[in-house]
Amino acid sequence: MNSEFQAELVETAQRLVSPGKGILAADESSPTLTKRFEKLSIVSNEESRRNWREMLFSAPGLSNWISGTILYDETIRQSVSGGRPFAEFLSDHQIITGIKVDTGAKPLAGHPGETVTEGLDGLTQRVDEYYQMGARFAKWRAVIHIGDGLPTTGCIEANAHALARYAKICQMGGLVPIVEPEVLMDGDHSMEMCYAATERTLQSTFSALRNQRVLLEAMILKPSMVLPAADSPSQASVTEVAQQSVTCYLRNVPASVAGIALLSGGQPEDVATAHLAAMNGLLRLPWPITFSFGRALQDGPMRIWKGQAANSDAAQKALIQLSEANSTASVPNLD
Ligand code: 13P
Repeated sequence: MNSEFQAELVETAQRLVSPGKGILAADESSPTLTKRFEKLSIVSNEESRRNWREMLFSAPGLSNWISGTILYDETIRQSVSGGRPFAEFLSDHQIITGIKVDTGAKPLAGHPGETVTEGLDGLTQRVDEYYQMGARFAKWRAVIHIGDGLPTTGCIEANAHALARYAKICQMGGLVPIVEPEVLMDGDHSMEMCYAATERTLQSTFSALRNQRVLLEAMILKPSMVLPAADSPSQASVTEVAQQSVTCYLRNVPASVAGIALLSGGQPEDVATAHLAAMNGLLRLPWPITFSFGRALQDGPMRIWKGQAANSDAAQKALIQLSEANSTASVPNLD
């Protein structure tokens, strides 16, 4: 790889997954955050979204557990009270700024019920701009649906290609790519179906990453866990989820990848944490496995905050508790 950024990229990737640290995914698009606010009757506008993010990022001691946080475009252009841009504030607090650069999952032509994530047009210029603004890593989320005959090979390959193109463009511009192929837990499919879909997706994604000459040491994989669907009649134990997930990653994720930072995908927060801890208690792994949770870190604090400044201290305490619990779960724990 001839990117002038190679050494910096590898160092940033390693910092993001350094022992006991994980990532706070606070990059919900404005429509998605609005939906989450509305469930709790919180008004959603630019200022309330800014207040929410400022409350999260200024939680005292956050950087003890959190190495980086992912922002949405609106947030990286905003400032904390007092006028410092968020990226500068985070850097002053030893937290690396990340940025969501995809423009969302859109219907995939000819593939009913499936999506492809868009955002490659103009990405080189946007990456340059985000780097100038202080971002040092990025995220792109592909969405894979399990259903009758799904996922199709056409969908898996379209998403893998886009993820790989995104990852290389980021590396050339100095941003560590978080490669996120999420197999959704919606529906009633079995754990075996999830395993098969996750394996096909990872194989196709790493084949595309190789073809696009992505430096694996300078990227982080953000996969979903191997689980039965939320409405599946046969649920699995924490140990089974950990074993199936780790088996799938060991078979399909090259050892040179800097780290695996899991998404929570809508699991209850304590369950997501238990799965992470169980994975780190199984055996010695070739990469760190940590967290890059969105809902499993923010849902509890949001219920406490409710849009009221008076609740900020309590909400921050809840965020710190969750961050610390996930930090502990991310440390290898072999007897
Ligand atoms: P969840 O942990 O809520 O799945 O969010 C992680 C994320 O970044 C989704 O893109």
